[in-house]
Amino acid sequence: MGKKKLRIGIFGLGTVGSGVVELLKRKEGKLGSASFSLEKVVVKNLTKKRDINLSPEILSINPEDILCNLSIDTVIEVIGGIYPARAFVLQALEKGKNVITANKALLATSGSEIFKKAAEKNCYLGVRASNIAAYRLIESLTNSPSRIEKLVGIFNGTCNYILTEMEKTGKPLPDLLKEAQSMGYAEADPADDINGKDTAHKLVVLLGLTLGCFFPLKSIHVEGIANVSSEDIVFAHELGYKIKLLAIARRKEDILEARVHPALVPQDRWLARLAGVENGLEIRDEIGLEIGMQAPGAGKYPTATAIIEDLICIAQGRKLFLSERIPSFNLKPMSEIETKYYLKVYAVDKAGVLAKIANVFGDHDISIESVIQKKIESKKDNLVPVIMLTHRSREDNIQKALRKIKDLPVIKKNPFLIRVEEGIF
Ligand code: HSE
Repeated sequence: MGKKKLRIGIFGLGTVGSGVVELLKRKEGKLGSASFSLEKVVVKNLTKKRDINLSPEILSINPEDILCNLSIDTVIEVIGGIYPARAFVLQALEKGKNVITANKALLATSGSEIFKKAAEKNCYLGVRASNIAAYRLIESLTNSPSRIEKLVGIFNGTCNYILTEMEKTGKPLPDLLKEAQSMGYAEADPADDINGKDTAHKLVVLLGLTLGCFFPLKSIHVEGIANVSSEDIVFAHELGYKIKLLAIARRKEDILEARVHPALVPQDRWLARLAGVENGLEIRDEIGLEIGMQAPGAGKYPTATAIIEDLICIAQGRKLFLSERIPSFNLKPMSEIETKYYLKVYAVDKAGVLAKIANVFGDHDISIESVIQKKIESKKDNLVPVIMLTHRSREDNIQKALRKIKDLPVIKKNPFLIRVEEGIF
């Protein structure tokens, strides 16, 4: 049986908050068979000019107007960041209110505590908007009868937009980041988009939903896209790949591999075809079932839509709790992963250079699949980029080889490495 009426309080009226208010206005007080009213919106600054019109009695700067308002049963947190969002979320749950949050950083750092509080107070905790590339799969992740074996996703709209536009226009990253910011895709601190942290937060939350335990961010290998250039995108293209920022998790019995980094994805794979702000998640479970979801990964309306979907779940009286904790999980050290690698070095353009690099690879049990060497006529420094794609190799062997290659007298800049990921379908 659905609830009769939801009385909603919202913390935050930025890009996402105003999107939620707009969509609620369009719903005219009805969510399926339930009705709702927007009681309060708490903001930092009452006098700030906003696109959205709200009657003055709804707006407040006092959090108590939501937290201590007994008639409000559902709280939406869209202020982002840890402080004061964490306190608002925990206090709302403590008072028996349902909570919907878009806050991936908060869930990644305090997820266990927040889910525990929601379960203890029998409240709904809506987290769909924390990863809108995956929000329609959230229940499959928590309730699946089969365990997830592999999960690969593009979880950051800003980075996917930047990589796509870099390929189309060759513009540099800082210009493209400004464009992504103007479209409302980036975080308040866009460093978290570029350095991979936002993607890692989303991965930690999805693993939390799937396994019942939230890994500390520092236990996961996280690399962003700051060093990827349009030149790498061109070379990757010549080798038959696109470059994407991926979140990857793979489970084998009690060993879990979890990492975030840019990756070369074969051009014909589904993830490689997701362009611009479009994000996606693909999953394979232990019986071989493969499912996926694609959606815009950032922006006002896509995020607000995921929040409205959680409101509908509350209206329907549904609950979303964590999977049971899977005991004794060990994270695989990064040094033990195995994949193919793209490697770019700048070498002096003279005879015998390739042989020297190939010797180092041979010494470390790494076999080369293809090589591109570019002659650049106008270069004054006589340096040429040499790009190598390896066969599957172990990460520790690659890292040892890179240290040796870097020290070769013919190599003039730090080598740059991107891992290869085939994805699931
Ligand atoms: N900054 C985030 C992104 C917003 O670009 O994906 C959505 O989580």
